[in-house]
Amino acid sequence: MKHLVAPSILAADFANLQRDIELVNDSMADWFHVDIMDGVFVPNISFGFPVMAAVNQYATKPLDVHLMIVDPDRYLTAFKEAGAANITVHYEACTHLHRTVQQIKELGCRAGVAINPHTPIAHLSDIVEYIDLVCVMSVNPGFGGQKFIESTYRRIQELHLLAQKSNSNLLIEIDGGVNHENALPLLQAGAHVLVAGNTVFAAKDQRASIQLLKEISPATQIV
Ligand code: DX5
Ligand code: ZN
Repeated sequence: MKHLVAPSILAADFANLQRDIELVNDSMADWFHVDIMDGVFVPNISFGFPVMAAVNQYATKPLDVHLMIVDPDRYLTAFKEAGAANITVHYEACTHLHRTVQQIKELGCRAGVAINPHTPIAHLSDIVEYIDLVCVMSVNPGFGGQKFIESTYRRIQELHLLAQKSNSNLLIEIDGGVNHENALPLLQAGAHVLVAGNTVFAAKDQRASIQLLKEISPATQIV
């Protein structure tokens, strides 16, 4: 499949949110990545439902919602109602992950599981068959603009092998420090979705930055 690009609106200009959303609407981007942080699971607070509703009002592309919050079960319905197409919860934040995943699917959303850089990929082996997406964190979650962690490449390869065994439709999403240099090797390792915050919104020509990420075509792409 052709890979997807998901600009992270955490890096957008919140004073000009409508403008930045329309820019993404008019670009080659596929999804809006929406980072929700609660100040407990991660050491930062981003924004909540009123801002997400504003995003949903203008966005013409699916909202890929990344919940960096404890006990996400409490809010799944509310995120669906706020416009989420994909809901991704953290492996590390869910005691009953299988139940949480079932609830996301019952809401009619794509179910995703995000995994922190220190958590072994093998811990996903019994959930992969039930989910649509894994968000491989390539930074420690909580902030945009951090440095990409190199072990991500082998983690993608390991996840790719796992998915081949139990879920060949699994989407592998990479989140954190994605840029124009690492995008190609990430795709070659098996990634399907590239999240990009600062690489898009800190660029002079934001549309061109999205286009560059989108037009990469790895001759040796595995999937
Ligand atoms: C980090 C967030 C990321 C972040 C990516 O906790 O989950 O989605 O917005 O931003 P960049 O691409 O700037 O690292
Ligand atoms: Zn994210």
